[in-house]
Amino acid sequence: MMIPSDFRAVMHRLNIEDYQYFDSVGSTNQVAIEWLEDSAPDFAIVFADHQSNGRGRFDRQWVTQPKSAIALSIIIRPTHEEQQKLSFFSPLAAVALAEVLENSWQITAEIKWPNDVLIQKKKTSGILTEAIWKGDQLAGIVVGIGINVLASSIPPQDTLNFPATYLQAHTQANIDRFALLEQFLTSFSQWRPFIHSEDFLNYWTNRLAFQGEKVYIKQKDGNIQLAGTLKGINKHGDLEIVSDDNLVHSVSAGDVHLRPVEPEN
Ligand code: ATP
Ligand code: BTN
Repeated sequence: MMIPSDFRAVMHRLNIEDYQYFDSVGSTNQVAIEWLEDSAPDFAIVFADHQSNGRGRFDRQWVTQPKSAIALSIIIRPTHEEQQKLSFFSPLAAVALAEVLENSWQITAEIKWPNDVLIQKKKTSGILTEAIWKGDQLAGIVVGIGINVLASSIPPQDTLNFPATYLQAHTQANIDRFALLEQFLTSFSQWRPFIHSEDFLNYWTNRLAFQGEKVYIKQKDGNIQLAGTLKGINKHGDLEIVSDDNLVHSVSAGDVHLRPVEPEN
């Protein structure tokens, strides 16, 4: 397998020595988990041009078509301090991507709490963070991100549970996947020391999708747990929803889905 020279150059400029590149692989998260269980250092990278078994939450499929998307997993060996904020790593990836889209590509992105990046209310990126435990010790986490870049990256809409889009639909400039990869990893590293900061929470809150809008929270089994108006996030990263009786409810990231209530007209 030939590693593209542009990919190598990105790793070199970012001083990343530990990386694996695949033309095709089952799931970059799966490779990263196995590498983490072995010897992978902090910020080791797994990248694939195509995934045959990419995964989302709850064993759902994430489709990664060849030459059109980014499928990336970042191995993190969290510091003691970061271990208190593990649920902030998916938002960290979302914030990093939103920042790159805005600053480098003039694309306005929103973050669908807690782990999707949307453009004009359609999903352009999904993030899956998995924690690996050895007994009661945390070995590390794998932050997996899939980004739809070119048109051929998106699966047929009728196979999706949420509308999808891709970056190139939203800018005239030609998006180069490896340039985007470099920008994303840079932004991720720059924000990482600040996940405890108010700046991070503000940046995230300011880009929350459906803020002030009617939403509902669905459980894994499909039951609706809560409905109301999306208020924001609290300092723990939990979503805050105001129900019709004006009570504020907080929802922690986990086995729940956030959906907008479609206006009736
Ligand atoms: P939610 O909580 O809103 O349901 P999620 O972040 O948990 O979303 P998953 O359901 O785990 O997302 O993500 C997998 C889903 O994403 C699949 O069921 C499929 O509908 C959709 N999907 C798969 N591949 C793509 C893609 N390339 N682009 C956009 N959506 C995709
Ligand atoms: C979601 O939308 O819930 C998460 C999708 C995560 C997809 C990425 S692609 C790279 C990494 N490898 C995987 O198998 N999944 C993640």
